[in-house]
Amino acid sequence: MKYDFNQVCDRKKTDCLKWDMVQSIFGSEDLIPMWVADMDFPVAQPIADAIKKRAEHPFYGYTKPGSSVLDSVVERMWRKFKWKIKPEWIVFTPGVVPALHVAIRSLTHPGDEVILQEPVYHPFFPAVTNSGCQIVNNGLRLINGRYEIDYDDLERKFQPKTGRLRGPSRVKTIIFCNPHNPVGRLWKREEIIRMGEIAINNGAVVISDEIHCEILFDNHRHTPFASISQEFEQNCIVCMSPSKTFNLAGLDVSSIIIPNKKIREDFINTQSGIVPSLNLFGYTAMETAYRYGDDWLKQMLDYLQENLDFLKEYLTKKIPEIKVIQPQGTYLIWLDCRGLNMDKFALSSFMKEKAKVGLEDGFIFGEAGAGFMRMNIACPKITLEEALKRIESAVNSL
Ligand SMILES: Cc1ncc(COP(=O)(O)O)c(C=O)c1O
Repeated sequence: MKYDFNQVCDRKKTDCLKWDMVQSIFGSEDLIPMWVADMDFPVAQPIADAIKKRAEHPFYGYTKPGSSVLDSVVERMWRKFKWKIKPEWIVFTPGVVPALHVAIRSLTHPGDEVILQEPVYHPFFPAVTNSGCQIVNNGLRLINGRYEIDYDDLERKFQPKTGRLRGPSRVKTIIFCNPHNPVGRLWKREEIIRMGEIAINNGAVVISDEIHCEILFDNHRHTPFASISQEFEQNCIVCMSPSKTFNLAGLDVSSIIIPNKKIREDFINTQSGIVPSLNLFGYTAMETAYRYGDDWLKQMLDYLQENLDFLKEYLTKKIPEIKVIQPQGTYLIWLDCRGLNMDKFALSSFMKEKAKVGLEDGFIFGEAGAGFMRMNIACPKITLEEALKRIESAVNSL
């Protein structure tokens, strides 16, 4: 089936966070929202059909996924990444963010430390602090327009403390984001190995958030952390979900893949009775997406690539003060706005009040994000073009 991603759909009055909350989030109604990570594209037809069919059977009681749902995840990991997993490794959670909270609580004690790599997806911060742990920032380095892991700094973060705070390392885990939100890096195999070995040598479990792993540009290929080796497999919690890939965020469905029995049991015990089981439509959507969604996905990725090329060309030609940090993955584009010479609050107000475009402020991803903005380009090209025209005209009026 041929999908038309140029079609502009009215999402207002559907309790849609992105469009219906514009006034309360940005303070005026006439903004183009390009912030939260969902797409302005309708889902693949087989998913909509499967949900309608399931809804027609008027029993929405307690649900437990059967082998067909589990197999759809097992098969997808193999087909997409040549990663062989077992059905019993999968723990379903109603989202990756709750899984991160559970993972940290299950791996740490209050007072322990958790490494993050800022600028990074901001819900990682409360996942650490609400568990009573301390954030240790192994900040990414921006070198010639590309973000890199600072391995020397990562090693140092594990070293025993000296001085007043001396004592053994309290780092118990690291949240690794691959592809990385917001900087768009897909970490290469050798980068994953180097980072993972430092973690393993220092006794830290890696929580690998791979939610964006199927949104890739230029035929890049994703490597799941656990697929590196058996040692890596036994030392991680991998967070997967169809929600970004197939635009299913409102259905709250994710698969947390935990090969290590002890780590998995601790995770399950920690969430038991607190984190609810999934909405039954989530299972239907996930299985259908994984089995029958690839036709839509391929067309959507081609469209996204065109949007990215359009964005880059537009900025280069017409707004050279703003530069795209070239992403390998995610539809969330990290814009280097430092050429506008504004402090972070002025930049935020400028985009909201002058340009009337609802972007995500870079500084909410950590102080290293000051001077940057994150733009969601998963929208019809006409919407992207209108947003860019607004930014251009605001910049010209400076
Ligand atoms: C890296 C990352 N993890 C998790 C999430 C959200 O996951 P969920 O909606 O499944 O809780 C997002 C959403 O943007 C994300 O970018």
